[in-house]
Order: sequence, then structure tokens, then C-alpha cells
Amino acid sequence: MTISEELSILGLAGKVALVTGGGAGIGRATAELFAQAGMRVAVIEIDASRAAEIRKLLESRGCDCLVIEADVRKGTESRRIISDVRERFGGLDVLVNNVGDYLGYKTEFAESTEEEWDALYAVNLLHLLHMSKAAIPLMREGGGGSIINISTIEAFRGIPLTVVYSAFKAAITGFTQSLAVELGQYGIRVNAIAPETTNTAQIVATPRVPPENRDHLSRWFPIGRFGEGADSAGAALFLASDRLSGWVSGSSIVVDGGALAAGAWMRLQDNGWTHLPIIVADGYTPRPPHPLRKE
Ligand SMILES: NC(=O)c1ccc[n+]([C@@H]2O[C@H](COP(=O)([O-])OP(=O)(O)OC[C@H]3O[C@@H](n4cnc5c(N)ncnc54)[C@H](O)[C@@H]3O)[C@@H](O)[C@H]2O)c1
Repeated sequence: MTISEELSILGLAGKVALVTGGGAGIGRATAELFAQAGMRVAVIEIDASRAAEIRKLLESRGCDCLVIEADVRKGTESRRIISDVRERFGGLDVLVNNVGDYLGYKTEFAESTEEEWDALYAVNLLHLLHMSKAAIPLMREGGGGSIINISTIEAFRGIPLTVVYSAFKAAITGFTQSLAVELGQYGIRVNAIAPETTNTAQIVATPRVPPENRDHLSRWFPIGRFGEGADSAGAALFLASDRLSGWVSGSSIVVDGGALAAGAWMRLQDNGWTHLPIIVADGYTPRPPHPLRKE
């Protein structure tokens, strides 16, 4: 049995999904998995080469897809995007608000600037409002849908040096809960996914850890590894499927290898436990250059 045949039990074949930032990382993995489940998939991507790549990939897999090069931070773009989706597919069942970035800012809050706050607001919160507002009428016309917001574990756990990023991500939790309350009457569910460190284009996690220290991954994470895009994509697939998650709304699913539950606790090499640091590193990862980011 192929994976597509296995996923047919989800009841998603032919449904329409829109994934923002679907050209890399978690968004790309989600677009791919949705395509495997037989969905028609629209992808929004700001980067032209990533847009071309995901279009080629989805088409090669026989997915009825629409890839739009756009910047979701612009409110007017969200109306154009939804109008393009309406024209092409006639409806919208699932919206994944995936774009988000700490933009490379690692600044103590007291030193951070209003310019940074504005940039972080635009890429981590404002576009969720624009995209959701533009999408809701189309979802209502179709009798319902599922909005999935990508947050972060840092919405539920403190993080130094990216305080404002985490504040906007925490706001996604409130947005998700309150919007779920409003939209339930229209058959629209609203949920969030909160990943821990996940290997993507933005976060190059595993290569950052020197090979001689990689065995510590199994001590840092109860599940023993960093996340992959497919981990969050799996949660998105669950939340997209009314058959599986039809009574789940206003929730955040933590996709973190058990890290939040562990808190600061880590396993030692002798299988004892510690909540004291055992590795000296800043916990951030080097990243390839990107025009939107301060490097
Ligand atoms: N990777 C992690 O460790 C991690 C952890 C927690 C939360 N997250 C969240 O998951 C989401 C996805 O992160 P990722 O690591 O997969 O990112 P990524 O940078 O690997 O991929 C994001 C994609 O979105 C595109 N994009 C960026 N700005 C855009 C814009 N304004 N309009 C349209 N497209 C745009 C990028 O070009 C890229 O292709 C983000 O919201 C991020 O905050 C990621």
C-alpha cells in the first residue's frame, strides 16, 4: 500500500489547503504531506527559487497545486492570494499560517529597538491576522474549515535574547483560542502547532552540534533528536482532518520530542539525571543568508 492510499482514510482527498511559507522547512514538509493525502495545495512563498522548487516537486507528484510568489506581511497581498485561491479552486478548507522568523535578532530586551519589534511583529503575528481575515469568508461559504497557526515552544517556555519574538508567538495562542470560540458556529476550527528546535532552512540544528557531542541529543530531548519538518507536518495533517480532529479547536499541539515536559531536566551519560548544564553553547544555530534577515 502506498502512503497516499494509507492517508486516504483521513478524508482529505480533493480538499483545498493553503500553506504560507511553503517553499522550505515546516511549510514545505506540510505542503508535501498534504499533497500525499490527495489535497489540492496552494503555497505562498516569498523566495522565487523556493517557489519554483516546490511547484516542480508538487507537480511531479501529480498534485493540483497553485504556487504564488508573495509576501504575506502585506495585507493587500492576503486579499489577492485568497482571490487567486477562490478563482483556481473555488473554495478553501485548510489554512496553515506558517511564516515566522526570529530574523536573526539575538538581543537583550533592554537593548532591542522599535525597528526590531516592528519587523518581528510583521513576520510573526500581523500576517496571521490578515490571512485569517481574508480566508474566513471563503471557508464559511464552503461550510467550514481548519485554520492552523504555527507558533513555537517558546510561546510556552521562556527564552533569552528573543523575548519579543516569543511574545508575538505567545500572542498566537490567544489569537488561536479566541478565534476558535468565534468561528466554531461556522464549522471552522482554529488550532496551533508549537514546535521545538526543528531542522529547516531557517534553523540548521543538527550540524551545529559537533559530531562528538551528538550523543547528547538523546539527553536533551526525551525522544532523543531535534525535530524535522515532517514532525510538525504530521500534526498539521491531524488538525486538517475533520475525521481525526473534528472536535479539536482552540488547542496548541506541542511538537517537541518531550522537551517541554522535561523542563530543564536532562539525562546524563550514566543514565542519571541533571538540571544543570552539561554543554557550553549558546543554543542558537548558524543560518544561511536571507534577504529578510539581519545576519
Ligand atoms: N525550525 C524551528 O526550529 C522552529 C521552531 C519553532 C517554531 N518554528 C516556526 O515554524 C514556522 C516555520 O519555520 P521554519 O523553520 O520551517 O522556517 P524556514 O525559514 O525554514 O521556512 C519558511 C519559509 O517561509 C518563507 N517566507 C519567509 N517570509 C515570508 C513572507 N513574508 N511571505 C511569504 N513567504 C515567506 C521563507 O522564504 C521560507 O521558504 C515559523 O513560524 C517558525 O517561527 C520553527
